[in-house]
Amino acid sequence: MTALLEVRDLRVAFGAAAAVDGVSFTVAPGETLGLVGESGCGKSTTALALMRLLHGAVTGGSAHFDGRDLLALDRPAMRGVRGAEIAMIFQDPGTALHPLIRVGEQVTEAIRAHQAVSAAVARARALDLFRQVGIATPELRLRAYPHQLSGGMCQRVMIAAAIACSPRLLLADEPTTALDVTVQAQILELLQTISRATGMAVILITHDLGVVAGMADRVAVMYAGRIVEMAPTAALFAAPAHPYTRGLLGAVPRLDQGWDDELPIIPGSVATAIAASGCRFAPRCPRADRSCRATPPLAPVAEGHLAACWHSG
Ligand SMILES: Nc1ncnc2c1ncn2[C@@H]1O[C@H](COP(=O)(O)OP(=O)(O)O)[C@@H](O)[C@H]1O
Ligand SMILES: [Mg+2]
Repeated sequence: MTALLEVRDLRVAFGAAAAVDGVSFTVAPGETLGLVGESGCGKSTTALALMRLLHGAVTGGSAHFDGRDLLALDRPAMRGVRGAEIAMIFQDPGTALHPLIRVGEQVTEAIRAHQAVSAAVARARALDLFRQVGIATPELRLRAYPHQLSGGMCQRVMIAAAIACSPRLLLADEPTTALDVTVQAQILELLQTISRATGMAVILITHDLGVVAGMADRVAVMYAGRIVEMAPTAALFAAPAHPYTRGLLGAVPRLDQGWDDELPIIPGSVATAIAASGCRFAPRCPRADRSCRATPPLAPVAEGHLAACWHSG
Protein backbone atom coordinates (compact mmCIF):
# COMPACT_ATOMS: atom_id res chain seq x y z
CA MET A 1 0.00 0.00 0.00
CA THR A 2 1.22 3.51 -0.73
CA ALA A 3 2.00 5.40 2.43
CA LEU A 4 0.24 8.68 3.15
CA LEU A 5 3.15 9.73 5.34
CA GLU A 6 6.69 8.43 5.08
CA VAL A 7 9.09 9.70 7.72
CA ARG A 8 12.74 8.92 7.11
CA ASP A 9 15.60 9.36 9.55
CA LEU A 10 13.99 12.29 11.38
CA ARG A 11 16.40 14.08 13.70
CA VAL A 12 15.64 16.81 16.20
CA ALA A 13 18.17 18.33 18.59
CA PHE A 14 17.63 20.85 21.38
CA GLY A 15 21.18 22.08 21.81
CA ALA A 16 23.46 19.09 22.28
CA ALA A 17 20.63 16.75 23.22
CA ALA A 18 19.18 14.60 20.43
CA ALA A 19 15.49 14.44 21.34
CA VAL A 20 14.67 12.50 18.17
CA ASP A 21 17.54 10.47 16.77
CA GLY A 22 16.88 8.93 13.38
CA VAL A 23 13.20 8.00 13.49
CA SER A 24 11.61 6.34 10.43
CA PHE A 25 8.06 5.08 9.97
CA THR A 26 5.15 5.14 7.55
CA VAL A 27 1.42 5.62 7.97
CA ALA A 28 -1.08 4.39 5.39
CA PRO A 29 -4.41 6.09 4.63
CA GLY A 30 -6.99 5.04 7.23
CA GLU A 31 -4.34 3.50 9.43
CA THR A 32 -3.85 4.28 13.11
CA LEU A 33 -0.24 4.12 14.23
CA GLY A 34 0.30 4.14 17.98
CA LEU A 35 3.43 5.94 19.15
CA VAL A 36 4.18 4.86 22.69
CA GLY A 37 6.90 5.22 25.27
CA GLU A 38 7.62 6.78 28.63
CA SER A 39 7.49 10.51 29.18
CA GLY A 40 10.47 12.28 27.63
CA CYS A 41 11.20 9.72 24.89
CA GLY A 42 10.47 12.16 22.05
CA LYS A 43 6.87 11.45 21.05
CA SER A 44 5.61 15.03 21.14
CA THR A 45 8.81 16.29 19.55
CA THR A 46 8.26 13.92 16.62
CA ALA A 47 4.72 15.23 16.07
CA LEU A 48 5.72 18.88 16.45
CA ALA A 49 8.54 18.36 13.94
CA LEU A 50 6.04 16.99 11.40
CA MET A 51 3.81 20.04 11.97
CA ARG A 52 6.90 22.23 11.51
CA LEU A 53 6.37 23.81 14.90
CA LEU A 54 9.92 23.42 16.20
CA HIS A 55 11.60 26.42 14.59
CA GLY A 56 14.93 25.11 13.48
CA ALA A 57 15.44 22.26 15.92
CA VAL A 58 14.96 19.71 13.13
CA THR A 59 18.46 18.70 12.05
CA GLY A 60 17.77 16.05 9.46
CA GLY A 61 15.49 13.64 7.70
CA SER A 62 12.43 13.89 5.49
CA ALA A 63 8.70 13.48 5.94
CA HIS A 64 6.90 12.87 2.68
CA PHE A 65 3.17 13.49 2.94
CA ASP A 66 1.33 12.57 -0.20
CA GLY A 67 4.53 13.09 -2.16
CA ARG A 68 5.60 16.43 -0.66
CA ASP A 69 8.36 16.68 1.94
CA LEU A 70 6.79 18.52 4.89
CA LEU A 71 10.23 19.43 6.18
CA ALA A 72 11.08 21.18 2.91
CA LEU A 73 7.80 23.01 2.16
CA ASP A 74 7.88 26.81 2.23
CA ARG A 75 5.87 28.53 4.93
CA PRO A 76 2.76 29.41 2.89
CA ALA A 77 2.53 25.85 1.57
CA MET A 78 2.93 24.49 5.09
CA ARG A 79 0.20 26.80 6.36
CA GLY A 80 -2.09 25.31 3.73
CA VAL A 81 -1.30 21.79 4.91
CA ARG A 82 -1.52 22.51 8.63
CA GLY A 83 -5.07 22.40 9.90
CA ALA A 84 -6.56 21.42 6.57
CA GLU A 85 -4.70 18.25 5.61
CA ILE A 86 -2.83 17.50 8.82
CA ALA A 87 -4.35 18.44 12.15
CA MET A 88 -2.96 18.04 15.62
CA ILE A 89 -4.53 17.60 19.00
CA PHE A 90 -2.00 19.04 21.43
CA GLN A 91 -1.01 17.42 24.67
CA ASP A 92 -1.82 20.53 26.70
CA PRO A 93 -5.24 21.99 25.81
CA GLY A 94 -4.64 24.89 28.19
CA THR A 95 -2.02 26.48 25.96
CA ALA A 96 -3.53 25.66 22.58
CA LEU A 97 -6.79 27.57 22.91
CA HIS A 98 -6.82 31.37 22.76
CA PRO A 99 -7.91 32.58 26.20
CA LEU A 100 -9.78 35.68 24.97
CA ILE A 101 -11.84 34.19 22.15
CA ARG A 102 -15.04 32.21 22.64
CA VAL A 103 -14.39 28.53 21.93
CA GLY A 104 -17.19 28.32 19.37
CA GLU A 105 -15.60 31.13 17.44
CA GLN A 106 -12.22 29.36 17.53
CA VAL A 107 -13.69 26.23 15.99
CA THR A 108 -15.68 28.28 13.46
CA GLU A 109 -12.52 30.17 12.50
CA ALA A 110 -10.65 26.88 12.07
CA ILE A 111 -13.33 25.78 9.63
CA ARG A 112 -13.45 29.06 7.69
CA ALA A 113 -9.67 29.35 7.48
CA HIS A 114 -9.61 26.34 5.17
CA GLN A 115 -13.10 26.02 3.71
CA ALA A 116 -15.12 28.53 1.73
CA VAL A 117 -18.33 28.34 3.75
CA SER A 118 -20.57 31.01 5.24
CA ALA A 119 -20.42 31.92 8.92
CA ALA A 120 -23.81 30.27 9.44
CA VAL A 121 -22.70 27.00 7.86
CA ALA A 122 -19.47 27.01 9.85
CA ARG A 123 -21.39 27.67 13.04
CA ALA A 124 -23.80 24.79 12.34
CA ARG A 125 -20.79 22.57 11.66
CA ALA A 126 -19.17 23.64 14.94
CA LEU A 127 -22.37 22.89 16.82
CA ASP A 128 -22.50 19.45 15.25
CA LEU A 129 -18.83 18.81 16.11
CA PHE A 130 -19.43 19.85 19.74
CA ARG A 131 -22.23 17.30 19.91
CA GLN A 132 -20.00 14.62 18.34
CA VAL A 133 -17.23 15.10 20.89
CA GLY A 134 -19.75 14.77 23.71
CA ILE A 135 -20.14 18.36 24.85
CA ALA A 136 -23.45 18.74 26.68
CA THR A 137 -25.56 21.85 25.94
CA PRO A 138 -23.35 22.68 22.96
CA GLU A 139 -25.26 25.88 22.05
CA LEU A 140 -24.28 27.29 25.43
CA ARG A 141 -20.71 26.02 25.31
CA LEU A 142 -20.02 27.58 21.94
CA ARG A 143 -20.25 30.95 23.67
CA ALA A 144 -17.91 30.05 26.54
CA TYR A 145 -14.34 31.24 26.99
CA PRO A 146 -11.71 28.57 27.70
CA HIS A 147 -11.37 29.56 31.38
CA GLN A 148 -15.06 28.84 31.87
CA LEU A 149 -14.56 25.22 30.81
CA SER A 150 -12.89 22.31 32.59
CA GLY A 151 -9.66 20.84 31.25
CA GLY A 152 -11.55 17.87 29.86
CA MET A 153 -14.04 20.16 28.12
CA CYS A 154 -11.21 22.22 26.58
CA GLN A 155 -9.67 18.96 25.34
CA ARG A 156 -12.95 18.14 23.61
CA VAL A 157 -13.07 21.59 22.02
CA MET A 158 -9.55 20.99 20.70
CA ILE A 159 -10.58 17.67 19.25
CA ALA A 160 -13.56 19.34 17.58
CA ALA A 161 -11.26 22.00 16.09
CA ALA A 162 -8.80 19.35 14.89
CA ILE A 163 -11.35 17.23 13.06
CA ALA A 164 -13.33 20.25 11.79
CA CYS A 165 -11.71 20.25 8.34
CA SER A 166 -11.69 16.48 7.87
CA PRO A 167 -7.90 16.21 7.84
CA ARG A 168 -6.24 13.30 6.05
CA LEU A 169 -3.84 12.84 8.93
CA LEU A 170 -4.49 13.51 12.59
CA LEU A 171 -1.63 13.78 15.07
CA ALA A 172 -3.26 13.05 18.41
CA ASP A 173 -0.85 13.76 21.26
CA GLU A 174 -2.19 12.17 24.44
CA PRO A 175 -5.67 13.19 23.26
CA THR A 176 -7.57 11.74 26.17
CA THR A 177 -5.22 12.14 29.11
CA ALA A 178 -7.29 14.92 30.69
CA LEU A 179 -10.54 13.02 30.34
CA ASP A 180 -12.26 10.51 32.57
CA VAL A 181 -12.40 6.92 31.41
CA THR A 182 -15.94 7.03 29.99
CA VAL A 183 -15.34 10.15 27.94
CA GLN A 184 -11.93 8.78 26.91
CA ALA A 185 -13.60 5.72 25.42
CA GLN A 186 -16.18 7.92 23.66
CA ILE A 187 -13.50 10.12 22.09
CA LEU A 188 -11.37 7.20 20.94
CA GLU A 189 -14.45 5.60 19.40
CA LEU A 190 -15.27 8.87 17.67
CA LEU A 191 -11.77 9.11 16.20
CA GLN A 192 -12.02 5.52 15.04
CA THR A 193 -15.42 6.12 13.42
CA ILE A 194 -14.12 9.18 11.56
CA SER A 195 -11.02 7.30 10.49
CA ARG A 196 -13.11 4.43 9.09
CA ALA A 197 -15.61 6.71 7.39
CA THR A 198 -13.16 9.15 5.81
CA GLY A 199 -9.90 7.22 5.56
CA MET A 200 -8.25 9.67 7.97
CA ALA A 201 -4.92 8.32 9.18
CA VAL A 202 -4.07 8.80 12.85
CA ILE A 203 -0.81 8.92 14.75
CA LEU A 204 -1.95 8.22 18.27
CA ILE A 205 0.63 9.32 20.81
CA THR A 206 0.25 7.92 24.27
CA HIS A 207 2.12 6.53 27.26
CA ASP A 208 -0.89 4.27 27.83
CA LEU A 209 -0.60 0.85 26.23
CA GLY A 210 -4.25 0.19 26.99
CA VAL A 211 -5.21 3.01 24.62
CA VAL A 212 -3.13 1.67 21.71
CA ALA A 213 -4.36 -1.88 22.29
CA GLY A 214 -7.91 -0.78 21.53
CA MET A 215 -7.18 1.76 18.82
CA ALA A 216 -3.99 1.21 16.85
CA ASP A 217 -3.40 -1.01 13.82
CA ARG A 218 0.34 -0.86 14.38
CA VAL A 219 2.49 0.33 17.22
CA ALA A 220 5.89 2.01 17.29
CA VAL A 221 7.65 1.96 20.65
CA MET A 222 10.05 4.83 21.30
CA TYR A 223 12.87 4.94 23.76
CA ALA A 224 15.18 7.92 24.26
CA GLY A 225 14.56 9.39 20.82
CA ARG A 226 14.60 6.17 18.83
CA ILE A 227 12.03 3.64 17.70
CA VAL A 228 13.06 0.39 19.35
CA GLU A 229 10.19 -1.80 18.17
CA MET A 230 7.43 -1.59 15.58
CA ALA A 231 4.78 -4.20 14.86
CA PRO A 232 1.11 -4.83 14.16
CA THR A 233 -0.67 -4.25 17.48
CA ALA A 234 -1.67 -7.88 18.05
CA ALA A 235 1.87 -9.10 17.35
CA LEU A 236 3.40 -6.54 19.66
CA PHE A 237 1.21 -7.59 22.57
CA ALA A 238 1.48 -11.31 21.81
CA ALA A 239 5.22 -11.44 21.20
CA PRO A 240 7.07 -8.28 22.28
CA ALA A 241 10.64 -8.60 21.03
CA HIS A 242 12.45 -5.73 22.73
CA PRO A 243 13.25 -5.93 26.45
CA TYR A 244 11.96 -2.37 26.84
CA THR A 245 8.57 -3.29 25.34
CA ARG A 246 8.43 -6.35 27.55
CA GLY A 247 9.12 -4.12 30.52
CA LEU A 248 6.38 -1.71 29.48
CA LEU A 249 3.91 -4.56 29.09
CA GLY A 250 4.90 -5.86 32.49
CA ALA A 251 4.18 -2.41 33.84
CA VAL A 252 0.59 -2.36 32.52
CA PRO A 253 -1.83 -2.75 35.42
CA ARG A 254 -3.80 -5.95 35.14
CA LEU A 255 -7.50 -6.12 35.88
CA ASP A 256 -6.93 -8.58 38.71
CA GLN A 257 -4.58 -6.20 40.50
CA GLY A 258 -6.12 -3.82 43.01
CA TRP A 259 -5.25 -0.16 43.03
CA ASP A 260 -3.13 -0.64 46.14
CA ASP A 261 -0.86 -3.24 44.61
CA GLU A 262 2.47 -2.00 43.47
CA LEU A 263 2.99 -2.13 39.74
CA PRO A 264 6.07 -3.78 38.35
CA ILE A 265 8.38 -1.07 37.05
CA ILE A 266 11.39 -0.87 34.81
CA PRO A 267 14.28 0.18 37.04
CA GLY A 268 15.91 3.49 36.13
CA SER A 269 14.63 6.30 33.94
CA VAL A 270 14.95 7.43 30.34
CA ALA A 271 18.60 8.23 29.87
CA THR A 272 19.39 11.78 28.88
CA ALA A 273 19.62 11.43 25.17
CA ILE A 274 23.02 12.97 24.65
CA ALA A 275 24.78 11.21 21.80
CA ALA A 276 25.56 8.03 23.70
CA SER A 277 26.79 5.27 21.44
CA GLY A 278 25.22 1.86 21.61
CA CYS A 279 21.80 0.79 22.78
CA ARG A 280 20.28 3.51 24.93
CA PHE A 281 18.23 1.06 26.93
CA ALA A 282 21.29 -1.00 27.91
CA PRO A 283 21.79 0.70 31.31
CA ARG A 284 18.31 -0.48 32.36
CA CYS A 285 18.21 -3.73 30.44
CA PRO A 286 18.30 -7.15 32.10
CA ARG A 287 19.81 -8.67 28.94
CA ALA A 288 22.53 -6.11 28.25
CA ASP A 289 26.04 -7.34 27.53
CA ARG A 290 29.13 -6.22 25.61
CA SER A 291 27.36 -6.42 22.24
CA CYS A 292 25.02 -3.60 23.31
CA ARG A 293 27.87 -1.10 23.09
CA ALA A 294 27.13 -1.06 19.37
CA THR A 295 23.81 0.46 18.33
CA PRO A 296 21.40 -2.30 17.30
CA PRO A 297 19.59 -1.59 13.99
CA LEU A 298 15.79 -1.77 13.74
CA ALA A 299 15.65 -5.15 12.01
CA PRO A 300 12.91 -7.67 11.15
CA VAL A 301 12.18 -10.35 13.74
CA ALA A 302 8.99 -11.52 12.00
CA GLU A 303 6.75 -10.44 9.11
CA GLY A 304 6.09 -6.70 9.59
CA HIS A 305 7.70 -6.84 13.04
CA LEU A 306 10.91 -4.88 13.69
CA ALA A 307 13.03 -4.63 16.79
CA ALA A 308 16.29 -2.89 17.63
CA CYS A 309 17.91 -5.38 19.96
CA TRP A 310 20.88 -7.73 19.55
CA HIS A 311 19.06 -10.25 21.75
CA SER A 312 15.61 -10.32 20.15
CA GLY A 313 14.55 -13.03 17.77
N1 LIG B 1 11.40 22.99 23.50
C1 LIG B 1 12.29 22.16 24.07
N2 LIG B 1 13.52 22.59 24.42
C2 LIG B 1 14.42 21.77 24.97
N3 LIG B 1 14.20 20.46 25.20
C3 LIG B 1 13.00 19.96 24.88
C4 LIG B 1 11.99 20.78 24.30
N4 LIG B 1 10.90 20.00 24.07
C5 LIG B 1 11.22 18.76 24.50
N5 LIG B 1 12.49 18.74 24.97
C6 LIG B 1 13.20 17.55 25.47
O1 LIG B 1 13.15 16.57 24.44
C7 LIG B 1 12.94 15.29 24.99
C8 LIG B 1 11.68 14.68 24.40
O2 LIG B 1 10.55 15.39 24.86
P1 LIG B 1 9.07 15.09 24.37
O3 LIG B 1 9.06 14.96 22.89
O4 LIG B 1 8.19 16.12 24.96
O5 LIG B 1 8.77 13.68 25.02
P2 LIG B 1 7.39 12.88 25.17
O6 LIG B 1 6.35 13.58 24.37
O7 LIG B 1 7.69 11.51 24.66
O8 LIG B 1 7.09 12.87 26.63
C9 LIG B 1 12.89 15.47 26.50
O9 LIG B 1 14.17 15.20 27.00
C10 LIG B 1 12.52 16.91 26.66
O10 LIG B 1 13.02 17.42 27.87
MG1 LIG C 1 4.59 14.42 25.03
